[in-house]
Amino acid sequence: MSDMQSVVIATGSYLPKRIVTNDEISTFIDTSDEWIRTRSGIEARHFAAEGELTSDLAIAAANDAFQSANIDPNSIDAVIVATATPDETFPSTASKVQHAIGMKGGFAFDISAVCAGFIYAISNADALIRAGQAKRILVIGAETFSRIMDWEDRTTAVLFGDGAGAVILEAQDSERGILSTDLHSDGSHHDLLYVDGGVSSTGTAGKLRMQGKEVFKHAVSKLAKTAETALEKAGLQSSDVDWIVPHQANLRIIKATADKMNIPMEQVIVTVQNHGNTSAASIPLALDHGVKTKQIRKNQIIAIEAIGGGLVWGAAILRW
Ligand code: ACO
Repeated sequence: MSDMQSVVIATGSYLPKRIVTNDEISTFIDTSDEWIRTRSGIEARHFAAEGELTSDLAIAAANDAFQSANIDPNSIDAVIVATATPDETFPSTASKVQHAIGMKGGFAFDISAVCAGFIYAISNADALIRAGQAKRILVIGAETFSRIMDWEDRTTAVLFGDGAGAVILEAQDSERGILSTDLHSDGSHHDLLYVDGGVSSTGTAGKLRMQGKEVFKHAVSKLAKTAETALEKAGLQSSDVDWIVPHQANLRIIKATADKMNIPMEQVIVTVQNHGNTSAASIPLALDHGVKTKQIRKNQIIAIEAIGGGLVWGAAILRW
């Protein structure tokens, strides 16, 4: 094991061009801007164009990260893509990204942990860096959830969107980087949030099924707890946090979690209004937003937390 830290040296993001406002979604679903806004805080979401794949979104986010920090894709040792909506059953979406960005070596793989996918991905990337197996890792969260929506299920269909976010982690002898991670899953909650299809079950991709109220209850109780555990592991407390960058599922969950952690909303990065729930993409999208708007700055303490189908949940603490 090396004593290297995994430091974020670049962020990037991509949202598909098509913006679907609550008013537009009300033209094909029996809903209203008022209902969606008050229940979730969502005002619009982006939908991928026909033929635009999860890998296309991931590649665009990766290129944005390369450009923002002037990084050569060939200096990357590994690509990890967190996604629940891969292009194909195999190969991994990550291997398509690896090829598209022109990497000549290294390795690539996907992680399936739905909305907690980005936390699982950076936790795995951190372990690879600490084990000395990679020096620079491109970690992406990318999703096209519009493809697994049941448009007849109005309570769920209005909540999700498509997008991708990326970070590049580098091994550095530094005080900065990923300070701790905390991961959990509990398969007994399968029925609360799942997709009713798959290669070995139905041979189809299936549609997302969610018991929204139940997921809401688990989210509020589990998110603050995992963030506090991650803080404890890092030897920190809530008062040390500069920014919470939560999974952007629902403004009410985001507020309730911040409240439980005694952190004011002024210290929470919120982007859910602009793109809805983009699952594994939501945290890296929000991180990139925080960096580009100069809210997130070097040496600040950042807490990221997420929960998703499985159930899976977790948190990570970074010194930026
Ligand atoms: N538009 C208008 N009315 C609607 C809609 C809609 N889209 N959907 C449901 N309604 C109606 C219902 O029919 C019901 O009407 P009724 O009282 O006359 O029967 C009423 O609104 C309330 O419905 P509920 O299902 O009780 O709605 P609730 O207030 O619980 O809100 C929601 C539903 C938004 C899904 C909420 O439960 C929630 O936010 N859950 C968390 C889900 C979530 O964010 N999950 C993601 C986390 S994990 C991940 O990211 C994958």
